[in-house]
Amino acid sequence: MPQNDQCIRMEKVGYQVGGRTILTDFDLLLERGVNRTILGVSGSGKTTILKLILGLIHPQSGRIFINGLEITDQPEAVYREQRKRIAVVFQGGALFDSMTVGENVGYRLFEEGRLPEAEIEAIVREKLRFVGVEASLDLYPAELSGGMKKRVAIARALAADPDYIFFDEPTTGLDPIGVYNIVSLMRRLQDAGKTTLMVTHDLATAFATSQRFSLLHESRLAFEGSEADLKACDLANVREFLQPTDASLFV
Ligand SMILES: Nc1ncnc2c1ncn2[C@@H]1O[C@H](COP(=O)(O)OP(=O)(O)OP(=O)(O)O)[C@@H](O)[C@H]1O
Ligand SMILES: [Mg+2]
Repeated sequence: MPQNDQCIRMEKVGYQVGGRTILTDFDLLLERGVNRTILGVSGSGKTTILKLILGLIHPQSGRIFINGLEITDQPEAVYREQRKRIAVVFQGGALFDSMTVGENVGYRLFEEGRLPEAEIEAIVREKLRFVGVEASLDLYPAELSGGMKKRVAIARALAADPDYIFFDEPTTGLDPIGVYNIVSLMRRLQDAGKTTLMVTHDLATAFATSQRFSLLHESRLAFEGSEADLKACDLANVREFLQPTDASLFV
């Protein structure tokens, strides 16, 4: 595969941990400009997929490519630059409690030390304005609501100007207005041409923000396709996820 290939790709990835198989022959393609959601029930392995792509954990089999460079068979130093092209909005936000909102958003840029401080501050303000929490610049995470924390986490991801943005359950735990705010924000990012990969079990958010869908079921890719394909799919595993029967909720 050429090294300038603009996509993230997983090929037949297998991952086991603690004696449990989390992924079996899992395939994924995230092309630039596409917004994809990986669906799956709680504990199915969605966050694990993001960690594998980020190189935080390593698969036992299969291959993972970022922009054409395989990350599965070489030391991290080789693909560190590639990894910088990805920003993640972690489940729960993962903000640094001891830093202000502004310091959280600017953290990576301050660490890199490439830009003058005034320029970083301008970027931080711009990103906070984009997500609608500029007034909270000097507050600490403990002083924010759950929805605001998620928005700050998105601003922090944007500050790095990534090619790919990963969202881990960005709407879980938010009230309807909070969900609406995050969905609108994701749509604005997409209008700006950003490539996003979201993992969630929230179907409404998935349909509101994505064109492509992957469904993870019992460690395997149970479905891959468009919203129309997903809704028309008559595979039992897919139907069960979309419209769980009463009985299945009690298993
Ligand atoms: N270090 C570990 N040792 C044992 N099991 C683990 C370990 N890490 C993850 N797991 C298991 O792997 C499975 C997949 O975890 P993962 O966090 O990817 O699920 P998820 O789909 O993101 O779930 P949720 O929707 O609740 O966030 C879980 O059942 C979890 O218990
Ligand atoms: Mg998770």
